[in-house]
Amino acid sequence: MRYLTFALTKGRLADKTLAMLEKIGITCEEMKDKDSRKLIFVNEELKLRFFLAKGPDVPTYVEYGAADIGIVGKDTILEEGRKLYEVMNLGFGACRMCVCGPESAKEVLASNQLIRVATKYPNIAKDYFYNKKHQTVEIIKLNGSIELAPIVGLSEVIVDIVETGSTLRENGLKVLEEVCPLSARMVVNQVSMKMENERISRLIEDLRKVI
Ligand code: PRP
Repeated sequence: MRYLTFALTKGRLADKTLAMLEKIGITCEEMKDKDSRKLIFVNEELKLRFFLAKGPDVPTYVEYGAADIGIVGKDTILEEGRKLYEVMNLGFGACRMCVCGPESAKEVLASNQLIRVATKYPNIAKDYFYNKKHQTVEIIKLNGSIELAPIVGLSEVIVDIVETGSTLRENGLKVLEEVCPLSARMVVNQVSMKMENERISRLIEDLRKVI
């Protein structure tokens, strides 16, 4: 039996993924050691391998087959647009992709003026404004702390993730429009889905029972 390889998203999602896998008897003790600098972890008994990667890289590993399975946020799947199968909504990591800004931006957003939109997710923002709203906007790519952009005058609005809403509240911003709901998903390499169908299908079935 060959190894099935999982690419997990580093950080909050990885902790929740490991807790979920434990519920179906898949453990990887080595991975819980936060001080370890090891990059890849093996469960010899079950012939499974796990590695942690930055969110946007997870779909890349899965598309190329370096990982058979990935656990990654829907935001990243939409943004990266890789060729893979999205097989399951895992439910955790639930949040929303929204257009946000100060209350005063509501008017300018509705007026069809050429506004600037700051975001870490240019493809999602483009799809929303160009294809769904048929509105021409200027998209400015940022890499974090997106809420700063309308505060310092870089853009009128942002497209960003809202979870609890506290970052918006603490910075005097509001949700102006909702783009889509998000949560963690399981993705599978298209060839692996055929070659390892039995093992992957069993895994999906087991996970369905605990979700
Ligand atoms: C995300 C997101 C928001 C915040 C939303 O940022 O970009 O800033 O969380 O969460 P809330 O609604 O619960 O306040 P993250 O912490 O991932 O860091 P980043 O700003 O570097 O993207």
